[in-house]
This record gives sequence, structure tokens and C-alpha cells, in this order.
Amino acid sequence: MGNTRFIPALTVALLLLNFVVSFSTKITTNFSADQSALLALKAHVIDPQNLLATNWSSAFNICKWIGVTCGSRHRRVIALDLSNMSLSGIVPPHIGNLSSLTWLNMRNNNFHGSLPVQLVNLHRLKYIRLSFNSFFGVIPPWFGSFPRLQYLSLSYNNFIGEIPLDMFQGLPRLQVLYLATNRLSGRIPIGLFECKELQDISLAGNRLKGILPKEIGNLTILKTLQLHNNMIEGKTQST
Ligand SMILES: *[C@@H]1O[C@H](CO)[C@@H](O)[C@H](O)[C@H]1NC(C)=O
Ligand SMILES: *[C@@H]1O[C@H](CO)[C@@H](O)[C@H](O)[C@H]1NC(C)=O
Ligand SMILES: *[C@@H]1O[C@H](CO)[C@@H](O)[C@H](O)[C@H]1NC(C)=O
Ligand SMILES: *[C@@H]1O[C@H](CO)[C@@H](O)[C@H](O)[C@H]1NC(C)=O
Ligand SMILES: *[C@@H]1O[C@H](CO)[C@@H](O)[C@H](O)[C@H]1NC(C)=O
Repeated sequence: MGNTRFIPALTVALLLLNFVVSFSTKITTNFSADQSALLALKAHVIDPQNLLATNWSSAFNICKWIGVTCGSRHRRVIALDLSNMSLSGIVPPHIGNLSSLTWLNMRNNNFHGSLPVQLVNLHRLKYIRLSFNSFFGVIPPWFGSFPRLQYLSLSYNNFIGEIPLDMFQGLPRLQVLYLATNRLSGRIPIGLFECKELQDISLAGNRLKGILPKEIGNLTILKTLQLHNNMIEGKTQST
């Protein structure tokens, strides 16, 4: 009789233990998912300066690997900076497993091929900088699926075709858009002018055509707009 009141306490303790165990299992699982995603990336790239060769080793914590930043609480990979490393090769689909990533910088390498659709799983991305590479193909329509994206640079690559028509509806937080020096054609999608937070735009050095729509005036905090070396027409009004 006297022991029955311990039963609820014991149940609570067991539930708590169960919660702690499953919670930490989940974090460990995701931590090793991050590790295997980065090791898959390493296996796919050519690394002439051997920057990753010994540094990205499973003998060390991934949070200490070059170019990798982890969050302070969950130890998940939140930023990946592989800029200026002379890396070449394709970006493997495994990158889509870095589910806490907010910041991706691969600027100034020789990555080629098209971008893996699995990138779309990275809903937390705020910053994507892939300029100065040899990425090829159309800008995939799923690029319009990053609700938190503030910075997008795909300049100086080999992107072809039209800018996806409804891409910008899915990028409500966009502040910076650099698509310069590719081989983009067609018109500027009107949805661009709904991204009210835009401050810097460069579409220079493509094959874009058409008339610059008056809705450009809707972008009230725009600071720079570069459209030169295209076939865009328009009259500028000073008001
Ligand atoms: C762990 O990864 C899975 C699958 O990628 C994801 O669904 C889940 O939200 C992640 N958990 C945490 C705590 O990030
Ligand atoms: C990997 O590179 C980082 C950054 O340069 C450095 O701090 C770390 O000590 C390196 N780790 C190993 C095992 O060489
Ligand atoms: C990469 O190079 C650019 C241009 O030279 C420089 O501004 C940037 O700081 C470099 N990034 C890193 C991580 O070294
Ligand atoms: C990571 O991504 C790849 C390819 O998208 C997939 O095959 C793999 O099962 C994923 N999960 C882990 C934990 O690596
Ligand atoms: C531009 O602003 C006008 C007036 O506020 C609005 O009617 C129109 O829908 C806006 N257009 C775009 C593309 O955001």
C-alpha cells in the first residue's frame, strides 16, 4: 500500500529517461547524418590542394573541420564555407542531408554539373553563394522554395534558359540577388518586384530582353540595380 505512490513517480522518471534517450539518439543520428553528408561531398570532389584530405577525417569532430561551423546547442552543421579552395567535381545529393544548414558558400571553385534537387530540403538556408564556378543547366524551379533566403548569388556560372517564372514568390525575404554573367534569356519575371526587401540586384551580362516593368518602383529600398549587357529596354524616370 505504502509503495503505490511511488509508482507515478517511477513512471514519470521512466518516461523522462525514455525521452532523454530518444532525444539524444535523434541528435546523434543527425550528427552522423551530417558527417556522412560531408564525407560524401569529400568523396565526390577533386581537391588539388589537399585541404580536405586529412582535415575532414572521421577521427576528428566534424565541428572542427575546415569550412564547417556547428550550432552551439545541437552541434549540427549550420554553415559550410568552401570558398576559394580550388575544388572541382559535382555537388552530390547528400548535401541535402545537412538539415540545419543556414549558410552555404562555395564561391570561387570549379564545381560543375547541375545542382542536386535535394538542396530543396534545406529549408533553413538564408545564404547561398555559388558564384564563380561552372554550374550548368537551367536555374531549377525549386529555387523558389527557400522561405528564409536573404542572399542568393549564382553569378559567373553557365546557367542557361529563362529565370523560373514563379521563383520569386517563394523567396519573400530576399535582399540580394546576383545572377550576373550567365547565359540567361527571356524576360525578368514580374514576381521579382514582389520581393519588397530587395536591396541589391545584378542581372548584368546575360541575354535578357523586354522592357523593364514600372513595378521596379515597388522596390522601395533598392540600392543597386545592374542590368547592363542585356537586351533590356526601358525609360528611366526621375521623380
Ligand atoms: C533530424 O534529421 C531528420 C531527417 O533529416 C529531420 O527530419 C529531423 O527534423 C532532424 N532533427 C533535428 C532535431 O534536427
Ligand atoms: C582542420 O583545419 C582547421 C582550420 O584550418 C584547423 O583549425 C584544424 O586544426 C584542422 N584539423 C586537423 C586535424 O588538421
Ligand atoms: C575568398 O576570396 C575572396 C576574394 O578574393 C575574399 O574576399 C574572401 O574573403 C575569400 N574567402 C575566404 C573564406 O578566404
Ligand atoms: C543522405 O542522402 C543520400 C542521398 O540523397 C541518401 O541516400 C542517404 O540515405 C541519406 N541519409 C544519410 C543518413 O546519409
Ligand atoms: C506594385 O505596387 C502596386 C501598388 O502598390 C500594386 O498594385 C502591384 O500589385 C505591385 N506589383 C508587384 C509586382 O508587386
